[in-house]
Amino acid sequence: MLNTNLRTVLLNCLLIFLAGAVVSCASDPTKTNQSEKTTAMPTDPHSAARPQEAVVAHEHLQLQVDFDKKVITGIATLTVQNPSKGKKLLLDTRNLAIDAVFLETDGAKTDFTLGANQPFIGQALEINISEAEKQTVIIHYRTTDGADALQWLSPEQTAGKKHPFMFTQGQAILSRTWFPCQDSPGIRFTWSADVTVPKDLEAIMSAEKRTADSSAGKYHFEMTKPVPAYLVALSAGNLAFKAIDDRTGVFAEPEMLDRSVYEFADMGKMVAAAEKLYGAYRWGRYDVLVLPPSFPFGGMENPCVTFATPTILAGDRSLVSLIAHELAHSWSGNLVTNATWDDFWLNEGFTVYFERRIMESLEGKEYADMLAVIGYQDLQGTLEEFKNDTAASCLKLHLQGKDPDDGMNDIAYEKGYLLLCSLEKQVGREKWDSFLKKYFDDHAFHSTTTEDFLVYLETELLKPNQISLDASGAKNWIYKPGLPEGVVAPVSVRFQIAGELAASFSAGGQLDRNKTNGWSSHEWLHFLRSLPATLTANQMTVLDKEFAFTRSRNSEILFEWLSISVTHKYLPAYDALENFLVHTGRRKFVLPLYKKLVGTLEGKDFARRIFLKAKSNYHSVTRQSVEGLFSQG
Ligand code: BES
Ligand code: ZN
Repeated sequence: MLNTNLRTVLLNCLLIFLAGAVVSCASDPTKTNQSEKTTAMPTDPHSAARPQEAVVAHEHLQLQVDFDKKVITGIATLTVQNPSKGKKLLLDTRNLAIDAVFLETDGAKTDFTLGANQPFIGQALEINISEAEKQTVIIHYRTTDGADALQWLSPEQTAGKKHPFMFTQGQAILSRTWFPCQDSPGIRFTWSADVTVPKDLEAIMSAEKRTADSSAGKYHFEMTKPVPAYLVALSAGNLAFKAIDDRTGVFAEPEMLDRSVYEFADMGKMVAAAEKLYGAYRWGRYDVLVLPPSFPFGGMENPCVTFATPTILAGDRSLVSLIAHELAHSWSGNLVTNATWDDFWLNEGFTVYFERRIMESLEGKEYADMLAVIGYQDLQGTLEEFKNDTAASCLKLHLQGKDPDDGMNDIAYEKGYLLLCSLEKQVGREKWDSFLKKYFDDHAFHSTTTEDFLVYLETELLKPNQISLDASGAKNWIYKPGLPEGVVAPVSVRFQIAGELAASFSAGGQLDRNKTNGWSSHEWLHFLRSLPATLTANQMTVLDKEFAFTRSRNSEILFEWLSISVTHKYLPAYDALENFLVHTGRRKFVLPLYKKLVGTLEGKDFARRIFLKAKSNYHSVTRQSVEGLFSQG
């Protein structure tokens, strides 16, 4: 039987050939005829791979993780399908040192060339292969200081302070900085790995199977489901594990383990709720790895083991919708993947929608409504930011020539979410849920484009319900900037009191503390976001005295307060601000704070001084984003 990858590739070659057309018309909003489907599998502008010529079906990694040198030494053994009997295999690499390449057939070294080094894309690795339809290619390589996926942490940067720690972050196109691969979300392969780490550390990978010889520091991993390269992840450190139930659990440094297990106690319920909505969880176990605070994202949906920031450990389980989000990616993103980063909304818009449905199942509609309102507020902010860049607020992106990491923003998440809500409303929840379940089943373990989705939507949902694609508005949502007219903003009844309290206080009224009883993080966030820019210094002092925001241990609340503090130049919060920026690497928090500071004359010097202190704690993703702010002048 043909490998699914190869089958898709062959099919697409055939379809592209039959259509005799160029791929780029796929994004033409005026055309949704059948030929669009046939031309839909695009070439990925961010990958050198030519999968229609030679495609990697399986990759085995033999890895030595050297903490002293901060280097991974690897041997990558690639099973290659070569249907066209071509003579070249093209892989992506960036800042990798390639020592030698062998073909297994003759065991001899083969010639390879590294192409020109392109910003953020890196160098194409072109390998001379044989004409055999199936063959094995072996690459000896090392990572370098330019391995931007990796972060190496010293013992002082961990909770336990005794052992070093490392982790990888592959999305969007960083996997190529730590192993040679066909690094496109449209190309899937199965993989396995043998990893050696120092004897006192544990290694974790985004794999279904893990066998450990811990005393020797040797680990074996297997992923039997085809996944794109950005979902291959590794972490090593002093890690312990505690089960939550028989299929969910938490990996964390021992010092963080109990807090994490308490926070994520509902993970099993989340998986059950997700399955009830959109079908079986297909990855075996669902675990979470809690990383040190330098992790640049809230969470990353690495299959079988979500990588997560410790900044969601609020102590009251109020930030766990992030876990629901990463879990939801096990369907939207990992099972059905955006074919290129231009289709990023297919990953994130669907996931935000699914996340809120999981939270609705667990906590009720009023809870999910709070999340929707917070998301809508974020979206308004992003739309304002991009009011002069119409391309950036379309769901379908055009990232060619751009670093995908810079071009992906809230729009994919929150505008994507609103589009799916609008479609749900048009046909009713029951039909919508059956459609979505079928979408996941029909596309399982495949990558798909926005244009494929539109065709599928039309044939499977709209036509059977006598709605035309045009009337559904979907194309406007996808190809036009901003929000379509008539979008109804989500509302939250639970936010009403918080909004009123903020309004009465800012109008000079007294603070009625009793009104805040039982508030979750979300109500506090809404309260803080509802405070006007006209707040006086005295009002800031009163708020802080009453609610001790400067000392908040809830990262979302602290972030919001620190942000307001910069707006109002509330100096008593500046030590906390510095502390937060030095110890947290989560870009969603760090970047907006620097942005605000850099916007003022005095703030700019303060920001530069903190950045000098903090940057060794940041992963490259966060560090480069902040550096970008300073270089803008
Ligand atoms: N897959 C993303 C993280 C990501 C996106 C990494 C793009 C690299 C490039 C992840 O699922 C995510 O969206 N994380 C969010 C949390 C979520 C609740 C919105 C985050 O990190 O804040
Ligand atoms: Zn996501």
